[in-house]
Amino acid sequence: MSLFRKKSLDILMAQAADSEKGLKRTLGVWSLIALGIGAIIGAGLFVRTAAAAGEHAGPAVTVSFIIAAVGCAFAGLCYAEFASIIPIAGSAYTYAYATMGELIAWIIGWALILEYALGAATVSISWSEYMNKLLGGKIPFEWSHSPLQTALDAAGVMHRGIINVPALVILAALTLLLIKGMQESAVVNGIIVFLKVSIVLVFIFIGWHFIKDANHHPYTIPADAKPALQANGKEYSYLPFLNHGWGGILRGAAVVFFAFIGFDAVSTAAQEAKNPKKDMPMGILGSLAICTVLYILFSWVLTGVAPYTDFVKAGKEASVAYAIDTYMHGYQWLSTLVTIAILLGFSSVILVMMMGQSRVFYTMSSDGLLPKVFSKLHPRFRTPYKSNMILFIFIGLFAGFLPESVAGDLTSIGTLLAFVLVCVGVIILRKKDPNLHRPFKTPLVPLVPILGMLVCTAMIVSLWGTTLLSAFIWMIIGLMIYFSYSKNHSKLKV
Ligand code: ALA
Repeated sequence: MSLFRKKSLDILMAQAADSEKGLKRTLGVWSLIALGIGAIIGAGLFVRTAAAAGEHAGPAVTVSFIIAAVGCAFAGLCYAEFASIIPIAGSAYTYAYATMGELIAWIIGWALILEYALGAATVSISWSEYMNKLLGGKIPFEWSHSPLQTALDAAGVMHRGIINVPALVILAALTLLLIKGMQESAVVNGIIVFLKVSIVLVFIFIGWHFIKDANHHPYTIPADAKPALQANGKEYSYLPFLNHGWGGILRGAAVVFFAFIGFDAVSTAAQEAKNPKKDMPMGILGSLAICTVLYILFSWVLTGVAPYTDFVKAGKEASVAYAIDTYMHGYQWLSTLVTIAILLGFSSVILVMMMGQSRVFYTMSSDGLLPKVFSKLHPRFRTPYKSNMILFIFIGLFAGFLPESVAGDLTSIGTLLAFVLVCVGVIILRKKDPNLHRPFKTPLVPLVPILGMLVCTAMIVSLWGTTLLSAFIWMIIGLMIYFSYSKNHSKLKV
């Protein structure tokens, strides 16, 4: 049936070999690992760690990180197998096209828009917050917030946002960089990754000496913990199941999952990797492993330096700077450096997310499922420049006019859905084509993909109801486009 028509592996391989006409192969293994780290370390670590510790897991947020990492590792192992077999841009979308057919591929491609485009928008809004903080709040509220946000100033005057200009500025700058070329983008990304990883390490090393044992005891939040005071003066209760003990740790895992999003973006660059069969698995699993170690150490230090209850009231957004300013006397210089590193870190996340999105569109458009404009390459730079420009407008609409909270959890749902389907895909391809040469093999199939599906589905379920509803509406819109346009324009149509 045409809805389940599949793209044959032979066609995919031929496309990968035809790189003369397509995207340029410029990325080595270290560039790929850096691409992963560039997309991974961002708002999740610097903003959500404190929120998860303060509201759900306490010092045991370290365990939340381990749980989220395990889910990602299962999915990462499945991604690595596919990336080594099918070195084509487009990531999970491409794998699904070869294994589960066109409709599922379309659904994944559509979900990936939530991950990459909305992910870029979310982080650009956080970027805008931090930039304004660094500038001492000089950008007026109206020009740095969405029309859906209001705030009272010190004089009691109500302000309403008009448009988030700083978010648009960073998106525009990074779009230009992407148009210029993948290699240039990879160089800028590499420098940023070096700086942000250095700052995370410096914070871990210096912060280690400021850890107070008392802050790590008790390690999980007790059910009878005293309520903490919030910034608005109201009390925050730890009584609900997901706000203490193991329930809190699990909810914490769903919150910090956002911090791991991005390792799969490595797989969108498969067509630009010099030696994809060997280097793609290294890029995906290497960046994931490095970030996991950094996250565990970072969260241990952050919750050791500051009591977790602090994060209910103060310093949620700028948690690291807050912990340094309040508890690490003599290291104020580090707090400014951390803010700059965070801004840079957010920039590389946005860069790789926008790159990933344009590569997914590039592939969907080459397959006929999206209009040709998305796969039109620049004659000199050989980047999908028109797609980058259209994406700037599309992502800019979200970034300019929506608050951060609306976009963040939708990003997680889109990603988790893609993870689940990639895990399913590995099992299907093993059955369908058991003798296919697999330069990298997911261990213990079907156990690992099944565990990946279970952990990721559990995280989807634990996300909020309204977010699930928005994701559902998004999928309905996607299906309408598929049936009215893509199905009839597909290159596989006979
Ligand atoms: N993992 C990315 C971040 O934390 C999306 O910003």
